[in-house]
Amino acid sequence: MIHYSRADIDQMDKIFRLNLINSCTGFKSANLLGTKSTNGAPNVAVFSSITHLGSNPPLIGFVLRPTTVPRDSYRNIKETGYFTVNHIHSAIIEDAHHTSAKYPTEVSEFSQTQLEEEYLEGFYAPYVKGAKVRLGCRFLNEYEIKENNTLLLVSQIEHVYVADETIQQEDGWLKLQNADTVTINGLDGYAKTELIERYPYARPKKI
Ligand SMILES: Cc1cc2nc3c(=O)[nH]c(=O)nc-3n(C[C@H](O)[C@H](O)[C@H](O)COP(=O)(O)O)c2cc1C
Repeated sequence: MIHYSRADIDQMDKIFRLNLINSCTGFKSANLLGTKSTNGAPNVAVFSSITHLGSNPPLIGFVLRPTTVPRDSYRNIKETGYFTVNHIHSAIIEDAHHTSAKYPTEVSEFSQTQLEEEYLEGFYAPYVKGAKVRLGCRFLNEYEIKENNTLLLVSQIEHVYVADETIQQEDGWLKLQNADTVTINGLDGYAKTELIERYPYARPKKI
């Protein structure tokens, strides 16, 4: 069995620690975050920290890395209040990953990949064309995580788009496998998923 203590972790090579700590908490969601600046410049970037916070009201959260370098997504969200969340499917993983490259603010990642913007129902932020599950979100609040100088952004889901009926079951649940939604393993691994089983609401056993 491999074991690392906190002291080992502190002494690790930077990249080795990055890979270990990014993958040891399990699979993460794989999304493209679409934003547009106040002067109309679109932006798209891969995010693996988007997570459910609550369903009523429908809230999501994600962690933003320290804003010590310019972060276009963050600036656009703070300035305009809106962004989109677009599931990554297997056909677009290479382009999706490339959106993490540090382009200057004036260069849109849409222009450097095959990813295309799409505007739906007057929503300010661009959706990613062809993404199978898409959310239109409004920024609500941010919380500083003092321990590592990151931010937790809390937002509300205002729109949900699902590409077709094969993805959604009658009870509302989305079968993400049918959307070909991938999951992120660490910081650079993209994996397909296969549903094993769905279970009814768990109740205590009669003792
Ligand atoms: C797989 C993967 C997941 C990422 N997840 C996040 C994340 O959750 N939060 C974050 O701030 N940056 C994350 N990044 C980094 C951003 O994609 C990267 O900083 C990007 O350049 C931000 O673009 P922007 O400056 O246009 O906002 C991730 C990068 C990769 C490759």
